[in-house]
Amino acid sequence: MQILEIVGLILLGIALFWLFGLKLILKFAKGRSAPCPASLSWIVDLPIRRRYMRPVLDRVGIQPGETVLELGPGPGAFTVDAARRVGPEGKLIVVDIQAAMIAQVKARLQQAVVTNVETHVASAYELPIEDNSVDRAFLVTVLPEIPDPVRGLHEIYRVLKPGGVFSTTEEFLDPDYPRRKTTIKWAEAAGFEPTESYGNGLIYTLNFQKGT
Ligand SMILES: C[S@@+](CC[C@H](N)C(=O)[O-])C[C@H]1O[C@@H](n2cnc3c(N)ncnc32)[C@H](O)[C@@H]1O
Repeated sequence: MQILEIVGLILLGIALFWLFGLKLILKFAKGRSAPCPASLSWIVDLPIRRRYMRPVLDRVGIQPGETVLELGPGPGAFTVDAARRVGPEGKLIVVDIQAAMIAQVKARLQQAVVTNVETHVASAYELPIEDNSVDRAFLVTVLPEIPDPVRGLHEIYRVLKPGGVFSTTEEFLDPDYPRRKTTIKWAEAAGFEPTESYGNGLIYTLNFQKGT
């Protein structure tokens, strides 16, 4: 066997493990519709993942000066970048149900010297945010962890301003990965209208709007 064939087989093995082995490990490590345990936060924070997830925030479309909600930040892989995008005139509100995740986010913000972020430990069902006060809300691999996603989406709808944007991203590696049509069904059931669709079967982002 040629050296190139051996290297190719090793790379294929790594790729298959990354795609399917990791997915199985995650599936056993956490039950369906349960929050990703904070002990596994290192997985969502792997540099390789941050690299291939880089287009996500561009798709969310954050504008300077906006008030943006990030629900379920986990350890905060997207938080510092999102906070920089809203800029000093804007505000990022971060909500996660696990205190251990919010502690990681806070440490990260402190290290990056980012001060325009408000953090809360709270459930998606009871966001500590006023009605019609948020320009944009984004979730990355969070929705299927919420036992009743439509209930969570009704709450996001409540806090968004009329015309506000809800953006959700899902990746195939997530053990809970929902198909696009499932996500669209959940969002429409909460009153959102689909506006944009990006990506492919491995990672997709769907944007929706609250009616004006
Ligand atoms: C898989 S992690 C994703 C983290 C981050 N968004 C990322 O993609 O790197 C899902 C996060 O959503 C949070 N979460 C799950 N269910 C939630 C709920 N009902 N309310 C608020 N946060 C929730 C979890 O605690 C966890 O931090």
